[in-house]
Amino acid sequence: MPRSTDADTAKTTPTAAAGRNSLSVVDNRTGKSYDIPIDSGTIKAIELREIQTGPDDFGLMTYDPAFTNTAHCKSRITMIDGDKGILNYRGYPIEQLAEHSTYLETAYLIVNGELPTRRQHEDWVHDITHHTFLHENMKRLIEAFRYDAHPMGILVSTFAYRASVGLPFIYPDNDLSYTGNFLAMLFKMAESKYRPNPVLERALDVLFILHADHEQNCSTLAMRAVGSSHPDPYSAVAAAVAALYGPLHGGANEMVLRMLKEIGSVRNVPEYIKRVKQGQVRLMGFGHRVYKNYDPRARIIKQIADQVFEVTGRNPLLDIALELERIALQDDYFVSRKLYPNVDFYTGLIYQSMGFPVTMFPVLFAIPRTSGWIAQWEEMLLDAEQKIARPRQVYMGYDKRSYKVMDERS
Ligand code: CMC
Repeated sequence: MPRSTDADTAKTTPTAAAGRNSLSVVDNRTGKSYDIPIDSGTIKAIELREIQTGPDDFGLMTYDPAFTNTAHCKSRITMIDGDKGILNYRGYPIEQLAEHSTYLETAYLIVNGELPTRRQHEDWVHDITHHTFLHENMKRLIEAFRYDAHPMGILVSTFAYRASVGLPFIYPDNDLSYTGNFLAMLFKMAESKYRPNPVLERALDVLFILHADHEQNCSTLAMRAVGSSHPDPYSAVAAAVAALYGPLHGGANEMVLRMLKEIGSVRNVPEYIKRVKQGQVRLMGFGHRVYKNYDPRARIIKQIADQVFEVTGRNPLLDIALELERIALQDDYFVSRKLYPNVDFYTGLIYQSMGFPVTMFPVLFAIPRTSGWIAQWEEMLLDAEQKIARPRQVYMGYDKRSYKVMDERS
């Protein structure tokens, strides 16, 4: 890659001699010029290793805390255009999938790359439906948790809602759809046959579609990073669930609802916005690393909210949420920082109206995201360029120093 060791040559326009798909840089410390190939809008960070000042120099690195401008993999699963507010799974716009698909069909698409034929779909649904029974030991594992353990903590090792509210476990009913079954296993009481409300069942299915994958977010990074040391996929999913749990990621839907309850009334909204602008609190459910426009999922979720509230009655916290959004979308603090409602802003209101306890909200994010995690994990394992994840650091600590016995320390 070094093009010249001659400082005079380095001062000439480097791009003239380089290929069109390359970046020419001059290291002003040495006067050397380098041509770095550009592929898919990126340069390989490892190429910079050759930019050295001498034999004791290990070469240049990029410094990018929180990966704000670093692609750590090539992926064919999900595409986000954050400026335009576009989200596609395997090329299909999220709006079309939310309108026409089911969660299980979308999961097939994400994992296998193509929409299933009728036969493939039948086999896929049959296989999933007939693998929903768990080993009885799982029940004892769940029971071992304290009664008030957070369900996300339990999900890291297993899954439980009914244990937390003291209800007996319910076995799956293969007559029901994936989401219908899920609702039954949570909410079935003494009735002989649980029949989910079709509007709520469909709403949950669409919410599952919208949460199925979201390219390289924090939990997917955890899935890929842990998966890259080749443990079993369950362990990698546990790491991803733990990452999702945090309030800046999937835990935000729970925090939004707690925030709306804390605000309590529409008339308290301006005061809360003031506190946000003073940096005292964050407006939960707002902002995104990639979307600098309205999150396309939030737009669809607002429509789902209307359908759900027709069945369950209007969630009284909705007025507070709408007022927060109205003020934020015209306030310079939010406008200048391009902070818009994200996927978590309205989901909590829907889940609460459907009868889910607040602590279950992140679990409702984690369940559908599992298809995305698995697809990303497999893609990582099949990618010949991927290895065990092992970033570098910029060391800022002491140079070598000698140990002092305790009496010699000041
Ligand atoms: N409320 C108030 N100010 C905010 C918010 C917010 N929700 N989000 C960002 N900002 C401000 C932030 O203070 C900073 O201002 P300044 O430039 O003056 O320091 C600026 O906007 C840029 O913020 P950032 O922290 O550098 O942005 P980021 O890309 O690192 O963070 C985020 C992205 C999602 C973590 C953040 O927007 C946030 O904390 N949002 C609230 C939590 C939330 O809703 N999370 C769900 C994200 S979407 C679904 C998911 O991933 O699970």
